[in-house]
Amino acid sequence: MQKELREILKERLGLIGNSIAMQDAIDILVQAAPTDLTVLITGETGTGKEVFSNAVHQLSLRKKAPFVSVNCGAIPETLLESELFGHEKGAFTGAHEQRKGFFEVANKGTIFLDEIGEMPMGTQVKLLRVLESGEFSRLGSSTVHKVDVRVIAATNRALEEEIRDGNFRQDLYFRLKNVHISLPPLRLHPEDIPELFDFFARRVCTKLGIRYDGVALDVMDLFKQQAWPGNIRELKNIIETIITLEKVSFITSDVTRKYMKQALPPHIDKRVDFENSIVIANDFSNSNQNQFADKSQIELGIIFRSLLALQNEVSDMKAMLRHSISATDEIKDHIYHTAEAHIVAKQLDLDSLEQVEDLSLENMERRFIAEALRRFDGNRRLAAKQLGVSERTLYRKISDYKIDLN
Ligand SMILES: Nc1ncnc2c1ncn2[C@@H]1O[C@H](COP(=O)(O)OP(=O)(O)OP(=O)(O)O)[C@@H](O)[C@H]1O
Ligand SMILES: [Mg+2]
Repeated sequence: MQKELREILKERLGLIGNSIAMQDAIDILVQAAPTDLTVLITGETGTGKEVFSNAVHQLSLRKKAPFVSVNCGAIPETLLESELFGHEKGAFTGAHEQRKGFFEVANKGTIFLDEIGEMPMGTQVKLLRVLESGEFSRLGSSTVHKVDVRVIAATNRALEEEIRDGNFRQDLYFRLKNVHISLPPLRLHPEDIPELFDFFARRVCTKLGIRYDGVALDVMDLFKQQAWPGNIRELKNIIETIITLEKVSFITSDVTRKYMKQALPPHIDKRVDFENSIVIANDFSNSNQNQFADKSQIELGIIFRSLLALQNEVSDMKAMLRHSISATDEIKDHIYHTAEAHIVAKQLDLDSLEQVEDLSLENMERRFIAEALRRFDGNRRLAAKQLGVSERTLYRKISDYKIDLN
């Protein structure tokens, strides 16, 4: 990437990424930005979807027009449609006056529909219409209005799955992903960590008015080995927390380790309930006014609790995953054995049970074993595997049934 463009992205748009994975995403961003194409940005939480959407607008010809960001997941379903398309006076209870929607406000500019996967089906139909024709009607009116708005959408959900489950329209999906930017999780581009670190550390040091002397090399090794489930946001939060709480200009691995283990500093009570974090953080600031009256300290308390909550969620998810993997294995085993039995049965011509004189389980088992041994040229290990029994069981059964191995 040209140095000049890199500087613009970094200094003006706060966007960093020199790894191949990030470069691929940035290339698409730079190509698509000056066009009017709809852009769909996907990626895990904290991977930079908002940063990229802002960059698309800032690098476009619409940059002087409004950029309206709407979090579809944060607005109640019943309100989303009127928020997006506006409403007439009396359109619904509480609609005391006519109101312009975000699409009208964003006219000539860009609208960013964050968490698009949360959009209800009914609203999706209206969105598709405005995307195809630029036309929409306010709630409670049949008058058609026209707007010129570029749409950027983002989600951390797998929209293909939502389509399969009937929660998302396929036609809208294809319309939205004129251009698709897929942001990689941080664990897949750890080579960007040093530059990201430097960027965030300098920023927070400037804010706090302290000097920044850099970071020990082993801190980078430590950071590069992390999984970063919260991605770049998590990295940024940890750097800001370390510098703010430790007030250090040079960051060593000793200091860093404390935070990597997510051990809370002594003045932040680890046992507090995340749900009540804001209340508790305020209480806590009252009782420690001299030491921690600074609002940013309170915010950091909240950030810590978010990280803790995130960690708990990840542990829960891991446990669920482990559980479902073992369940899947059981199912797979079952299918495997059923399928195997079916194949062997077919080869033995046992499909049609009427044709078999002796239907006793013993007889069937004996025939299955004989067939499996024949198939593997008497190799008992392979035969046992295919039959889904241990070699020892197979030996026993060969002897019980007096199966002739020749
Ligand atoms: N490429 C990047 N360069 C610098 N900072 C970044 C980059 N990507 C993300 N960040 C920073 O990480 C934080 C999270 O980014 P952002 O809000 O864009 O993530 P997101 O993908 O929208 O997450 P979510 O799905 O949780 O909304 C922000 O503070 C942002 O500034
Ligand atoms: Mg976001």
